[in-house]
Amino acid sequence: MQLTRTGCALRATSRRWATISNRFLSFTAARAQSNAATDTNPADTSPAYPPRPPGLYLYGGIGQFKQPNPGSESQRSADRGFSSTIDDKKYPKDLHYNVSKQILEHVGRKLYLQPNHPLYLTRKLIESAFSEDQGFNNRLEPNPVVTVKENFDDLGFPADHPGRSRTDTYYVNQDHVLRTHTSAHELKLFSELKEDLYAGSHGYTLCSDVFRRDSIDRSHYPVFHQMEGARTWRLVTANEILDPNEREAIASHERRLNLRAMKDDLERLPLWRYRAGRDIDPKLHDQAALDLKAEDPHPNFDPATNPLQPSHTAEEIELVASHLKLSVEFLLAKVFRQAQRAGIISRTEPPRVRWIPTYFPFTSPSWELEVWWQDEWLEILGCGISQQQLLVKAGIPESVGWAWGIGVERLAMLLYGIPDIRLFWSQDRRFLGQFREGEATRFQEFSKYPECYKDVAFWVPDADGKVENGGEEAETLPPPTVGIEGEQRAVDSVATPSPSPSSSGAAAPAGGHNRSSSDSAQHHPSFHENDLAEIVRDIAGPLVENVTLVDEFFSEKKRRRSLCYRIMYRSLERTLTNEEVNEVHEKVRRRMEEQLGVELR
Ligand code: PHE
Repeated sequence: MQLTRTGCALRATSRRWATISNRFLSFTAARAQSNAATDTNPADTSPAYPPRPPGLYLYGGIGQFKQPNPGSESQRSADRGFSSTIDDKKYPKDLHYNVSKQILEHVGRKLYLQPNHPLYLTRKLIESAFSEDQGFNNRLEPNPVVTVKENFDDLGFPADHPGRSRTDTYYVNQDHVLRTHTSAHELKLFSELKEDLYAGSHGYTLCSDVFRRDSIDRSHYPVFHQMEGARTWRLVTANEILDPNEREAIASHERRLNLRAMKDDLERLPLWRYRAGRDIDPKLHDQAALDLKAEDPHPNFDPATNPLQPSHTAEEIELVASHLKLSVEFLLAKVFRQAQRAGIISRTEPPRVRWIPTYFPFTSPSWELEVWWQDEWLEILGCGISQQQLLVKAGIPESVGWAWGIGVERLAMLLYGIPDIRLFWSQDRRFLGQFREGEATRFQEFSKYPECYKDVAFWVPDADGKVENGGEEAETLPPPTVGIEGEQRAVDSVATPSPSPSSSGAAAPAGGHNRSSSDSAQHHPSFHENDLAEIVRDIAGPLVENVTLVDEFFSEKKRRRSLCYRIMYRSLERTLTNEEVNEVHEKVRRRMEEQLGVELR
């Protein structure tokens, strides 16, 4: 949700995207503390994070957060006996469950497999830059249910990381979530590479649907698609069989030889060759905007802000980082060439991208890539050098690797000029009929049905003035949970973690979490915007375009906070009648009273 409404989906989030450098200034401390947090007992929930600065966050985000409270043992046992079926598998339900029927309806659509669907075409384009011929297994993972361990623990997410909260993540039960990012499969895919390394594969791409409870606007949807790519090199190959006395000398000799092989790999990359003035296949000029301008003002690593891992040398990481950045830039060069052909961007000016150091729990050093798009920097991808601990767990301790993650819708919106993320779920021929493999297409808006907005103003429950201090008392306040397969559940005593000022920040490569429109709205321990969004989505489904905070104030007399949200209803496929919208809106209001405990004004 945003404070101000804008017409263009991509611009709509740029305010969040533009705050990266702020975040960069303060992630140093967070990284140090997070590293400390991952090294210690994961059950230790002592505050590990300083407050996050305003603006988006990625999954390395910074913010003070509490663990989801699982509820009492008796509440949990009271709920045993229910189970949910997702992708033909049964999962026992408990009080963590917060997946709405509307979300479940999206499971199994597999848009990335639907020929000529823009998500399918975008996946194919990404895979063409990381193809099986180049040693990447191109993988898909249809079942969206993963364990909390896979989604968070294995990747070193601290126990108090905001992404773990029930306001941000769909829990199937205490131990299972709908994956919030494709990185949930990293450990498994790296483990499988162990076999593949001998068969000549040294990397993978993965495309899947991912799920995040989030706010509502034209570039955020609770179900979207991510692609992840990873590449490894073996640093030492024969270590296992070495005599311990000779081990070190031979290993370091091997490491030098392998470094040479890594350098050769780097020098084979099309963009490396192009920039070094070497011969390249003339076809490449047609396929990619090779004259891409990449700005990379920061060093690849920095001991304080973006450190090397202890097991890596500077020389190795310079090579791996260059390989990663040039590979990703080449992907963007392909996207830009297609967008130029479709007339979406200018052919005369070289496209621009820039690298920004950042933080993720499972990579170090880490970076984000931004693209210059319609006069703004837009964040498009997150990446980094995989944490060695992850490779050790995967059984490839002597390898080094990079990984990136990208939001497929976000890339497709750039590629085709698609203005509203809901369109990807449309079954309307007027939408689907526009895209064809091998063709550069500029999306033609086939209709613009009128919008209809309704405001809802309410007093936030239990405000007593103390709430402005950051939610110290959050645990004692009742958490709302919403939209559980259409039924309302009494979960008053299951505390949703305290909404922090940034608890719904924006994970852009992830395509995910949105920056809240108002810190104080987010800050309130008894109200979280994502819960409102979930109610609106559950009732209005694809008819809701935007939910925006338009007014808020604190009444000294009542000692309560009042918020007013504007809900923009618009169908992409037909004109909505006022009566129909009134009916939907009334249901939203009633559900807000019942489930959020707000007093409507
Ligand atoms: N999974 C991360 C996210 O969703 C993106 C990422 C992938 C970052 C791989 C680094 C490496 O925010």
